[in-house]
Amino acid sequence: MSEEVVKITVRPNGPLRVEGPIVLKDADGKEWDLTGKPAISLCRCGHSEKRPFCDGSHNRVGFQCTATPAVLT
Ligand code: FES
Repeated sequence: MSEEVVKITVRPNGPLRVEGPIVLKDADGKEWDLTGKPAISLCRCGHSEKRPFCDGSHNRVGFQCTATPAVLT
């Protein structure tokens, strides 16, 4: 098991930026080839043509969502 930390940053009005040792799989367990990619941006707005990756469409649709840490219940 890797000791490296995966860092996920919630971008204001944009994607989730994921940095670190990433393994990304679909519902059937098939993996995306992320060779050479130290970071990826995952769509949070639902409008990307390249889901699950962000393609910048959040700007076009005016996606508005910010998040700040709070106690999880
Ligand atoms: S968050 Fe960027 S296209 Fe959806």
